[in-house]
Amino acid sequence: PPLETIINAYDFEEVCSRTISEKAKAFYMSAATDLITHQMNSKIYSKILFRPRVLRPVRDTGTSSSILGIPTSLPVFVAPAAMARLAHPDGELALARGAKAEGILQVISTNASYPLREIVESISNSSSPHPWFLQLYVNRNRKQTEDLLTEAVKLGVRGIFLTVDCPVAGKREADERLAHDISMKAPISGGGSQKSSDAKGGGLARMMGLYIDSNLQWSDIPWIAKSLIQGQQAAGVKTDKQIPIVIKGVQTAADARFALQYEKYGVKSVFLSNHGGRSLDTSPPAILTLLECWKVCPEIFEKLEVYVDGGIHRGTDVVKALSLGATAVGVGRPFLYSLAYGKDGVQKLVNIFQDEAKVTMQMLGVNSIGQLHPGLINTRGIDHL
Ligand code: FNR
Repeated sequence: PPLETIINAYDFEEVCSRTISEKAKAFYMSAATDLITHQMNSKIYSKILFRPRVLRPVRDTGTSSSILGIPTSLPVFVAPAAMARLAHPDGELALARGAKAEGILQVISTNASYPLREIVESISNSSSPHPWFLQLYVNRNRKQTEDLLTEAVKLGVRGIFLTVDCPVAGKREADERLAHDISMKAPISGGGSQKSSDAKGGGLARMMGLYIDSNLQWSDIPWIAKSLIQGQQAAGVKTDKQIPIVIKGVQTAADARFALQYEKYGVKSVFLSNHGGRSLDTSPPAILTLLECWKVCPEIFEKLEVYVDGGIHRGTDVVKALSLGATAVGVGRPFLYSLAYGKDGVQKLVNIFQDEAKVTMQMLGVNSIGQLHPGLINTRGIDHL
């Protein structure tokens, strides 16, 4: 169907599910074991209600904000997702160009299907380079990770999203069932897939995760910070400006508070995420972790930026998360699905989120992202969870 007929994020999923290969479908759409977390991720937003305020001037309501000091037209970013080329030949290039065209930010996966340099060049060649972030899986071969970080710094990375919620690959059965079909090309530098599947049944996800260091721990964060400084030295750029580190995959308030201790190494944000339900099934939706943080460690909201992702399909979902204290919201699968239309689809999806978020804010009686607050939200429907 023509792009004009697409009016919401679900429409992209419907189109994409008909156009991509079975292998791609299994990889994109699957989640861990019984899919309970995956389904809860989106369902939980339907149980959160608004408390709209009326008779406020909202003609000039705008959605702009910032992430790690970088302006964004909407505090929604493209979450890192492996292998975007399974959805469109332009893959991550289309994601990057679409995000740039609409003024939002992209986190590039360690397992991207294009070389990092190519993705970055696709948005930097012009007179106005666009900022971007790198998602990091740490390789058991630490030297490979150091090299990847050096390359990223040379290419101008503005933040590292360290993914910590899958020390081992989740059990994704839809993906595993198609394992015998797999013959994918290797992802970007620093990653390194193996062509064979592992003893536990394979699947794209497991295969790509084989290099990940399962022993990574909090005490390794200074090493990452040091590697970034070495990267700055190698790139000949000043080392006085720390490259921010985001801990992606925090699922308890205890760990969010833990992250605070690493502020001096550049940890500026916690990213509450369960990896789109792809890692540990029955782990909590990010919104529950966010509410737990308000109870246990409200100080993190003053000191760190807090991101959430998982199940975001609507502008209302975005506004709920932001009102409850999130700085920004990540979107994974819907952007992959929007790639059914390449860069145009990516742009259209951003526009849909922008329009929906703006109308929601107007209905709530607010003018700007900064005016959103928990008083606009009723969470009683999920308080027993
Ligand atoms: C992911 N995600 C992910 N996360 C990460 O840190 N590195 C990665 O390489 C990937 N790869 C990946 C592939 C695919 C196909 C999906 C769907 C997801 C997780 C991603 O960043 C994000 O946390 C979730 O996708 C958010 O949930 P929704 O928006 O997909 O519901």
